[in-house]
Amino acid sequence: MEVAWNTRYDTGIKLIDEQHQELFQIVDRLRRMVQQGADRIAVEALLQDLVACSERHFATEETYMQRFAYPDLAQHLSEHASMLTSLHELLAKFQESHQAMALMVPTFMEGWLKHHISDGDFGFVTYLKARNLA
Ligand SMILES: [Fe+2]
Ligand SMILES: [Fe+2]
Repeated sequence: MEVAWNTRYDTGIKLIDEQHQELFQIVDRLRRMVQQGADRIAVEALLQDLVACSERHFATEETYMQRFAYPDLAQHLSEHASMLTSLHELLAKFQESHQAMALMVPTFMEGWLKHHISDGDFGFVTYLKARNLA
């Protein structure tokens, strides 16, 4: 099944929504590549893109939250950090073992994105909007 962004994840902040959509697209592409048995080099390149894209996205959100003194900043930062730790661990496992591991990445990422956007990102976006900051 397609891993797709959905209007339910629409925060109303254009840059953040574009980055979320990009993350969903990479995860979807990754799942299809793995299922189609794409070669290891291609999968690995896309995994690296996923890490870079996640880091870029987190930096964007963290800049917003820091600039406007979001009170739950520490909690949100730790969710981003632990996701990157998990992603790096999955990447290392993929590199050292077999390609089947790669399917764990889209599965993990799909669940993480859906949960984090709904529970974490909406929290700071609501905070910014209530103060006319976004
Ligand atoms: Fe986000
Ligand atoms: Fe976030």
